[in-house]
Amino acid sequence: MAFHKLDDLGDVTGKVALVRVDFNLPMQDGRVTEDSRVRAALPTILELANKGAKVLLLAHFGRPKGARVADQSLSLVISTVEKILGREVMFVPEIAGDIVSQAVGILEPGGIALLENTRFWPGEEKNDPELVKAIAANADFYVNDAFSAAHRAHATTEGLAHVLPAYAGRSMQAELEALEKALGKPVKPVAAVVGGAKVSSKLGVLTHLVTKVDHLIIGGGMANTFLAARGVDVGKSLCEHELAGTAEAILDAADAAGCTVHLPYEVVVSKTFAANPPSLRTCNVHEVAADEMILDVGPSAVEALADALKTCRTLVWNGPMGAFEMAPFDAATVALARIAAALTKEGSLVSVAGGGDTVAALHHAGVADDFSYISTAGGAFLEWMEGRELPGVKALEI
Ligand code: 3PG
Repeated sequence: MAFHKLDDLGDVTGKVALVRVDFNLPMQDGRVTEDSRVRAALPTILELANKGAKVLLLAHFGRPKGARVADQSLSLVISTVEKILGREVMFVPEIAGDIVSQAVGILEPGGIALLENTRFWPGEEKNDPELVKAIAANADFYVNDAFSAAHRAHATTEGLAHVLPAYAGRSMQAELEALEKALGKPVKPVAAVVGGAKVSSKLGVLTHLVTKVDHLIIGGGMANTFLAARGVDVGKSLCEHELAGTAEAILDAADAAGCTVHLPYEVVVSKTFAANPPSLRTCNVHEVAADEMILDVGPSAVEALADALKTCRTLVWNGPMGAFEMAPFDAATVALARIAAALTKEGSLVSVAGGGDTVAALHHAGVADDFSYISTAGGAFLEWMEGRELPGVKALEI
């Protein structure tokens, strides 16, 4: 896919750039708890500011549904943004109109302003052409640096790209290039790790991946649904028994496409979901008792998965292998993540991971920096794994 990059910009001194970023940051008690999305946007913002553009940042925050909601104002994240950028950032409580044009008048070339939460205006989510026009009226060009919001066809993620000269920012560019390497034109064989609690939340992903990858490694609670569909008694484990038919259809599609599906043959079980419970044991998947639940993949099964990964050249990962938020059920996720990281460091594997839980798990394993690429996206990453066209990306295409 071809798109304009920041390299294609001519002289931007004094020009006004509308830069769509994703500052939808997790907050607790009024404080930002995780700021990687601001860090991801930093290269684009500073590059434009250093070239003398006046930078107007556009972002959404939460889901206020077209109304001003005080605790979803982007003014709450401005100190985090200033700290990370190391620059002063002006806050503008509007996204269009006179207040914004006055702010543009005050900003010096190289100045940066953060506009209010775009979702305070109903036209944002409706992709209203009038709102698009009004926002665009204050700017010379548009940069989209928010891959993680690109699955939304909103005024500031999609509409603006049609009315202003549009460019992919550095973070968007890096995401698109990494994702192209992982599933677009990957070096084969390709492995996918898909984990998480429920098959139902990742049906589209699983259905698409079996036609794209050579090895599909299924972990987490969703593996139980597949095991049950194959006749395994999973005891008290989290399991969507009603999806047995769907799971079988996915396994059949994998067979037909020549994709090897790896389900755990050895598991870690317990009678209670608690840290280091007394009833903890590792067993063959056919030996789970009626009062036990599967909470992780067993160590021998992880070794077998490692052997499969060693034969692969590309890996895409979404979702943990077990109930990784509680020890010792993080063991398989940590072990497999470390193997993938080591293979990446050796240069034999291109590894791309995405999704909130996955990124948290890789940080927990201490290997987030060793993966080839970690996406900042949650929902957008999943839609991309489903093979869907993302409207925000499509709009940038030339
Ligand atoms: C995200 O946090 O995944 C993006 O910012 C998109 O947010 P949304 O799901 O509210 O559209």
